[in-house]
Amino acid sequence: MVASGTFGYAREMARLVDCSRLGGILPKTITAQPRVGNAPWRTVETSAGLLNSIGLDNDGIDAFMEHHLPYLASIGTSIIVSIAGRTEEEFVQLAHRVGQTGQIAAVELNVSCPNVSGGVDFGTDPDACHRLVAATRAGCDVPILAKLTPNVTRIADVACAAAEGGADGVCLINTVLGMAVDWRRRRPMLGNVMGGLSGPAIKPVALRCVQQVRSVTDVPIIGIGGIATIDDVMEFLVTGATAVQIGTANYYDPQVSTRLIDELPAALQELGAATVGEIVGTLDSTR
Ligand code: DOR
Repeated sequence: MVASGTFGYAREMARLVDCSRLGGILPKTITAQPRVGNAPWRTVETSAGLLNSIGLDNDGIDAFMEHHLPYLASIGTSIIVSIAGRTEEEFVQLAHRVGQTGQIAAVELNVSCPNVSGGVDFGTDPDACHRLVAATRAGCDVPILAKLTPNVTRIADVACAAAEGGADGVCLINTVLGMAVDWRRRRPMLGNVMGGLSGPAIKPVALRCVQQVRSVTDVPIIGIGGIATIDDVMEFLVTGATAVQIGTANYYDPQVSTRLIDELPAALQELGAATVGEIVGTLDSTR
């Protein structure tokens, strides 16, 4: 799948990628109202990866339903809608509204945006996460995924809380809070000062999170974080992810995801497997 925020609303990618071949598309996180996002600069490439402080710039739920969802639904792959609310009630209403269209495969609750005020409130407190997922679950008929932040001490506690609240899966991970500095001008590179780090630098963090969550719960995990090659994909699968999302790599090569799909059967074969299910979570620390 392609990760939310890295593929727009898919329209702009259609001339570059055969989107119908993707396992799923997650359009940019949708909020109750349109948002213009944070002040520039909003992205900066560092030697360690990409930093962003977009600030949930998006067209809002009304425009999404009217203009974007019909297009997305026509592509012919699963659409998983990422949503973010400022309150539990907003999450519940957004999930209900997109869920009842009958056009989406799942809802992803973005409780992990590091770039807006309150963006990680539901992703850092296990009780709040549990309540949010349970409330959303009650009003929504499609599967619910919770996208979690690595910017916590115990991500496994949050993942368990999401699972107990009724989440059908957890997406690990959103970006790692970071910062870049222009020392000559004595200013931060990002208008919002701090931002979320993504790309290869965060893959070890993401794998660690998958491992920690896998060791305490069997809730399905979708791995995200620095995946750009088939080796990266396989590392996430054997560690315990049942699927993966590709994010930052899309900026450098929009066709990366379809290429990885093509490369998957040969990599599975190297482990004597024909299906992803045969290798998920087969990591053996005694080997
Ligand atoms: O790093 C991120 N940036 N994660 C999100 O969930 C949202 C995005 C943004 O819009 O700032």
